[in-house]
Amino acid sequence: MREQLEAIRNRAMAQLGDDASAEQIENVRVAVLGRGGELTAIMRGMREVPAEERPAIGQLVNEIKRELESRIEALQERQQRARMERALAEQRLDVTLPGTRIGRGRSHPLTQVAEEMIGLFEAMGFEAVATQDIDDDFHNFSALNFPPDHPAREMQDTFFLPGGLLLRTHTSNGQIHVMQRRQPPLAVICPGNCYRRDELSVRASPMFSQIEGFMVDRTGIVTMAHLKGVLSEFLRGLFGAATRVRFRASFFPFTEPSAEVDISCVLCGGGGCRVCKHSGWVEILGSGMIHPNVLRAVGYDPAEYQGFAFGVGIERTALLKLGVDDMRLFFENDLRFLEQF
Ligand code: PHE
Repeated sequence: MREQLEAIRNRAMAQLGDDASAEQIENVRVAVLGRGGELTAIMRGMREVPAEERPAIGQLVNEIKRELESRIEALQERQQRARMERALAEQRLDVTLPGTRIGRGRSHPLTQVAEEMIGLFEAMGFEAVATQDIDDDFHNFSALNFPPDHPAREMQDTFFLPGGLLLRTHTSNGQIHVMQRRQPPLAVICPGNCYRRDELSVRASPMFSQIEGFMVDRTGIVTMAHLKGVLSEFLRGLFGAATRVRFRASFFPFTEPSAEVDISCVLCGGGGCRVCKHSGWVEILGSGMIHPNVLRAVGYDPAEYQGFAFGVGIERTALLKLGVDDMRLFFENDLRFLEQF
């Protein structure tokens, strides 16, 4: 038995020479140490060994087992190290090679114009407040003094959502939310997206953005004169100091009196062209003194408080400011267009 074991040991160790391949090592491991291997077979046959020899034989088996295992481990470690060194030598990195250039991004032109518009109002002391796109009839219509049968509520204009909610059709819902939460004095703008059931076209899009603004204080402090001053300052800041500004009487349910605001045409300077339809003026925003019913709806006493509000479309303003003649260009994400700004 002893000789048999020594023979196994010697043969295995001879096979595990310094130049043994990974495959040869594995073969020895399976043949000697594996579940069907020679050493395992001997351990199983221990019962036939005379009792007084058993401890010595068992010890020898374990000794051989340990010896072979540690030899195999040492060989595998050495091979692993050799593989790594070979890989490092082959995959030499040239750190002086130029890298792959990553294109630098920039703000979308609509974002650029929106940020400039917001900055002009902030410079006048307005605070930008985010309000929700998904809202209820009260905040988008009723509180803004839309009568129940007003055409703007109809299916053809408004995207209605399940559960009686809707996508806001203008940022004027922001007036209601902010006034419900706060007390005057207020000078707030609410920039954000709005939604109407329009086809995407040269001058319309089902999703667009506006900046709502309003200023409220005790009666007599914020007047129509301040409305004209703030909006003139804003428009001259955006389109240049030479821009002329005109206020035209108009109608909105939530303002009284109401005014639409025109600027002298940015393209022809007022002489008349295709953009201004030869009138010399282009309409740019809606505004007015906040209607007493709106103040009542948010719990303000209209005898005590007074203010103005306005809403300006960002896409429309960007078209005029950047001299773009088709709204769809803003949404197509064509880099050849976008990279011009
Ligand atoms: N909400 C109006 C619109 O979407 C704009 C507006 C806002 C007009 C505030 C007056 C006052 O056209």
